[in-house]
Amino acid sequence: MSTFDAIILGAGAAGLFCAARAGQRGLRVLLIDHADEVAEKIRISGGGRANFTNRDLDPAAPQRHFLSANPHFCRSALARFAPRDFIGLLQRRGVGFHEKHKGQLFCDRSAEDLIGLLLAECEAAAAHGGRVERWQPCRVRGVRFQAESGSSAQQTSASSYSIDSDQGTVSAPALVVATGGLSIPKIGATDLGQRLARQFGLTVTGLRPGLVPLTFDGAAWAPYAQLAGLALPVAISTGAKKQRITFHEDLLFTHRGLSGPAVLQISSYWQPGTPIEIDLTQGVDLLAELAAAKARGTRKLIAGVLAAWLPQRLADAWARQDPAWQRPIAEASDKALTQLAERLSCWQLTPTGTEGYKKAEVTVGGVDTRELSSQTMEAKAQPGLYFIGEVVDVTGWLGGYNFQWAWASAAACAEAL
Ligand code: FDA
Repeated sequence: MSTFDAIILGAGAAGLFCAARAGQRGLRVLLIDHADEVAEKIRISGGGRANFTNRDLDPAAPQRHFLSANPHFCRSALARFAPRDFIGLLQRRGVGFHEKHKGQLFCDRSAEDLIGLLLAECEAAAAHGGRVERWQPCRVRGVRFQAESGSSAQQTSASSYSIDSDQGTVSAPALVVATGGLSIPKIGATDLGQRLARQFGLTVTGLRPGLVPLTFDGAAWAPYAQLAGLALPVAISTGAKKQRITFHEDLLFTHRGLSGPAVLQISSYWQPGTPIEIDLTQGVDLLAELAAAKARGTRKLIAGVLAAWLPQRLADAWARQDPAWQRPIAEASDKALTQLAERLSCWQLTPTGTEGYKKAEVTVGGVDTRELSSQTMEAKAQPGLYFIGEVVDVTGWLGGYNFQWAWASAAACAEAL
């Protein structure tokens, strides 16, 4: 019967990379995944080209690009396996990539190239005396911990984890949980990792969809529903005082609400029941511009004047909301222009919800990092049990940060196995 040094649950970004790194250290690794194909999320990521990392990442200031109840937890792993390390791997394997926006790196051809790279890295284990075997599709029925007699969870050199699966029972001294977050259940996301954490006494922080479109009440949204498909750059904010966060990105109107990078970013910080604020003016002093247009005696309608800075459809939709805004600018009252400029520079609106895990790119929250070693990702009170990737309470911004966390946490764990 095959014996393994480690079993990894989940053959996604983190699981595959961890298997490859451990295999290349000479370990015998078994990867188990219930999906038909490996790494379905890599396949659909970045519009099919996988935004696999970001050049702009400062591990000394992780809160700049990551959310976590324990913000400094991810520092060590991110510092030890940096974006340049993953970039080096692509270069060695000849996978072409390019930079798009704000340091985001994408495959030139297809996300399949990245999946091919990870599988080739797993195969390369053989050259180092290791082995990566994959059971897939294979359903996990349960996980048991067997402490050798005389040993407790704290003294475990001979203890092991047994996985009962569709392909039989298999045991190893180390179990790595890399089953990801809850988003996009139709391609294989489940809560197995979070359930296993609870089974072994770990806390799972509150979970919610992140990097997700926001939705609004049907009637209140009616004036904007006709704008579906329209995109423009904005500044978007949420939170009060010290918690306040602002992103400068593109906003996209949809039939049910708002999306686009600006909204996906802010959604990870948005708390239900609280407002978001959007500055649609793109840094223009709108009041001064409108007052100047009025002073020139322009006969243009206000919506026509606004179109110098806003898409015409948006300008028309705004002007329609108040009769005082539906006249030539020369005839508009100062009060009406002030209100218009204020509302466009601070459009305050309270989402009714999000599009949920069906559309979310990530899950905010996860296995409580206070119960894991930041050096190895091992559960402090359950030796031999590791959590890596998105199942952990570390959530990156849009822009390649979630994959970088998958690579870095996988590398930290593989070193320790
Ligand atoms: P991942 O989800 O990759 O892998 C988990 C694996 O566990 C899967 O193979 C799954 O089948 C398996 N599994 C789950 N439950 C199981 C069970 N019960 N039994 C056995 N196996 C089980 N990030 C980024 O940095 N750049 C990007 O461009 C994008 N783009 C993007 C687009 C879309 C549409 C989504 C949904 C997500 C992204 N992301 C992203 C986020 C990124 O995909 C995500 O953070 C990583 O894939 C997380 O890697 P993990 O390995 O932790 O989980």
